[in-house]
Amino acid sequence: MNGNIKLLSCWSKSNGDIGEEQQVRFSNSIRSHRISCSSSSRCSRGGGRWSLEGKTALITGGTRGIGRAIVEELVEFGAKIHTCSRSATELNTCLREWGSKGYTVTGSVCDVSDRDQRGNLIETVSSMFNGELNILVNNVGTNIRKPTIEFSHEEFSHLMCTNFESIFHLCQLTHPLLKASGMGSIVFTSSVSGFVSLKSMAVQGATKGAINQLTRSLACEWAKDNIRSNAVAPWYIKTPLVEQVLSSGEYLEEVYSRTPLRRLGDPMDVSSLVVFLCLPASSYITGQIICVDGGMSVNGFDPKVDIPRS
Ligand SMILES: NC(=O)c1ccc[n+]([C@@H]2O[C@H](COP(=O)([O-])OP(=O)(O)OC[C@H]3O[C@@H](n4cnc5c(N)ncnc54)[C@H](OP(=O)(O)O)[C@@H]3O)[C@@H](O)[C@H]2O)c1
Repeated sequence: MNGNIKLLSCWSKSNGDIGEEQQVRFSNSIRSHRISCSSSSRCSRGGGRWSLEGKTALITGGTRGIGRAIVEELVEFGAKIHTCSRSATELNTCLREWGSKGYTVTGSVCDVSDRDQRGNLIETVSSMFNGELNILVNNVGTNIRKPTIEFSHEEFSHLMCTNFESIFHLCQLTHPLLKASGMGSIVFTSSVSGFVSLKSMAVQGATKGAINQLTRSLACEWAKDNIRSNAVAPWYIKTPLVEQVLSSGEYLEEVYSRTPLRRLGDPMDVSSLVVFLCLPASSYITGQIICVDGGMSVNGFDPKVDIPRS
């Protein structure tokens, strides 16, 4: 297919969109994982319940933000990865960086909002992984922030297509591969916007709400095929997608005030949960949508000021 890139790839210490301090934390957490795996085989303890060795995975949108963190963490657990993005330049840069670290990641240029390109992507994945796929991470998603009555038909269609239709179709296309693997796991990147109202995000929230219900429906419908279906639902995570909206100090303060843990999330806060949901260790968990939100979605009333008793 046009723009299909196959390179042996690997781990990158620098994530472009995260700060130096986070990169150090990032590297340290990986280092300690490596030590625990190589020294006393924590990965093999429990009959491989904590390992993805030999498993295959497709992660959409793996060149930046949350998707990139998922690629890099899944690889650390032994999975063979294929990812995609629209930018060939960015994909090539990632693949080169990963390759220099010795990880097995391949990639395709693919706009998942395009039906034909989705078909080509899954053909590539199928031939690469011999007709089997263990893990599908439906991560691509975007946003248009504006009041509902200002949405044009084109904007509405673009959001619905990128955030939901593409995901629905990718599930259909990969179903035979997931089933053939004998142990399939789908993880969707949803959002807290699928549960609660967020300003100027009615349409994006509707796409995530649809993903949440698809998560539950596929869990039941495809259980007989040994395919699990779960979703992660983040609140604000430090990625390029939300850089602009979080550049306002005032807005950021509002975000902190609504977040019990009083910080933004890191992409790794999400990727660790995604990995868990793909591991054999979580094999009895299906149909769940788990928030990664510092407590935002359960924060009913948390006044900063203590009211003196009279
Ligand atoms: N960041 C947050 O605060 C947050 C909160 C809740 C939920 N989420 C969800 O988390 C997911 C990832 O968000 P993110 O913040 O990591 O986004 P991001 O930083 O914008 O990264 C998006 C990734 O997806 C790729 N991509 C975007 N559109 C694509 C398309 N049509 N076809 C193929 N690849 C595409 C991008 O590469 P190209 O641009 O080169 O294609 C990039 O690799 C989304 O579903 C988002 O809704 C994010």
